[in-house]
Amino acid sequence: MLNVVVMVSGGGTNLQAIIDNIESGQIRNARITAVISNNANAYALERAKKHGIPAVCISPKDFSSRQEFNEAFLEKVEEIGPDLIVLAGFLVVIPPEMIRRYPNQIINIHPSLIPSFCGTGYYGLKVHEAALARGVKVAGATVHFVDEGTDTGPIILQKAVEVRNGDTPEILQRRVMEEAEWQILPRAIELIAEGRVKVTGNIAEVS
Ligand code: GAR
Repeated sequence: MLNVVVMVSGGGTNLQAIIDNIESGQIRNARITAVISNNANAYALERAKKHGIPAVCISPKDFSSRQEFNEAFLEKVEEIGPDLIVLAGFLVVIPPEMIRRYPNQIINIHPSLIPSFCGTGYYGLKVHEAALARGVKVAGATVHFVDEGTDTGPIILQKAVEVRNGDTPEILQRRVMEEAEWQILPRAIELIAEGRVKVTGNIAEVS
């Protein structure tokens, strides 16, 4: 059984998609042992509680330096002892110490087809604003392993979504979530739980 910690900052619809896939039996070899948020008001914490999942909040704001936060954050995660860490809309930079401690054991959902519209400054609605400003006809989402760069780790799954005339960033964001994110994030966890994802260098191969 793969022990999964999900990290969130906001609404938690991706967390909900994972919970639903576990509860329906679509994901069989994984369980969520904790949800961690940097934001005490994140609705994602309510979603966790509703499903009996331990939920904790740890925020850089409560520490006098980033280094102190990083140490406490790593300690908290080590206490829980996950096999896999899932970043589901988590907007805090993962400390390098944590990335080294969990190599190819941290995955992230990003709301674009990497390498488009990713890297520093591209998160949430900003991604969709940039995609519409560039006039792309295809958008989508990517699940990738987290390395020490921003959105540079091995790509596990991607799904394309069409851009339609009249799309606003909010409409496109919703379509990308429904048609891509909520499908490929649970699927990636299922594949990892089944031992079907192998990483060589910067390439992830799914069998
Ligand atoms: C999702 O769209 C996710 O792809 C994005 O934040 C949103 C969180 O929504 N993540 C990033 O932009 C990371 N760079 P949710 O809280 O409803 O799952």
